[in-house]
Amino acid sequence: MRRDLDKLAAYYADAPDDISLADVDLGRVPGHVSIIMDGNGRWAQARGLDRSEGHVAGVDSLRETVTTSVRLGVDALSVYAFSTENWKRPQKEVNLLMHLFATTLLKELPLFHQENVRLRFLGDLTQLPAETRAVFQEGLDETADHDGMTFALAVNYGSRAEIVRACRGIAQDVAAGKMSADDVDEELFSSRLYTAGMRDPDLLIRTSGELRLSNYLLWQLAYTEFYVTDTLWPDFDRWEYLRAVRSFQGRNRRFGGVTGK
Ligand code: FPP
Repeated sequence: MRRDLDKLAAYYADAPDDISLADVDLGRVPGHVSIIMDGNGRWAQARGLDRSEGHVAGVDSLRETVTTSVRLGVDALSVYAFSTENWKRPQKEVNLLMHLFATTLLKELPLFHQENVRLRFLGDLTQLPAETRAVFQEGLDETADHDGMTFALAVNYGSRAEIVRACRGIAQDVAAGKMSADDVDEELFSSRLYTAGMRDPDLLIRTSGELRLSNYLLWQLAYTEFYVTDTLWPDFDRWEYLRAVRSFQGRNRRFGGVTGK
């Protein structure tokens, strides 16, 4: 983990009253932070704007969140951008989101290069529009040799579908004699998920105050600490991120045992 302390201090200057960089232990920053970005629509509606304006504003929050994660020394950031259920939204909104994913990714490639961020995707990309898929592939190719933070974008992601897909693949391999049912354990199962090779999230942040998982990383969140904030996603910034990290560091993580912090 590489962290530039001078850059970080400058980034976190002008602190509000309730939080500052000194409130977190930089030696215990969560390794994998995952975020359910929620509240774009409400943010826009509260301002008399179209929902799409909320998504556009959400892009700015996401950019800041990627930067904050890199500055704090987080190893992996994953975000829930589009669920398998989000296809039910009005076609206009779905189109806008698909377009936004592609254009944002292209626009942010220089940031990923500058910050050595490696991109990956979680979800079934085969159902996405061809243009979106092509840009995603470009993002993967362009960042493949980066070895800094991993940025995982969950698009057309649903945790139940992910688990069923893993089960089906394992069952097929057993039926084909490639492995035995006795080979199936937690590690093997994890390696069949979209998150293969990533550590489980240490901290899950959900914005907009909703207390549900919405079919997100059901397997991977088994021992994750949750932080729910009423802040709507377009208002989420480096300070709210710091509050989440402070809250995380105040938890006693026992992983089912009785000791450890
Ligand atoms: C939730 O708000 C947000 C989404 C479904 C889309 C997330 C997309 C972005 C943050 C845009 C940028 C993303 C990328 C990857 C470029 P909502 O629409 O569910 O809000 P509501 O609950 O208030 O209606």
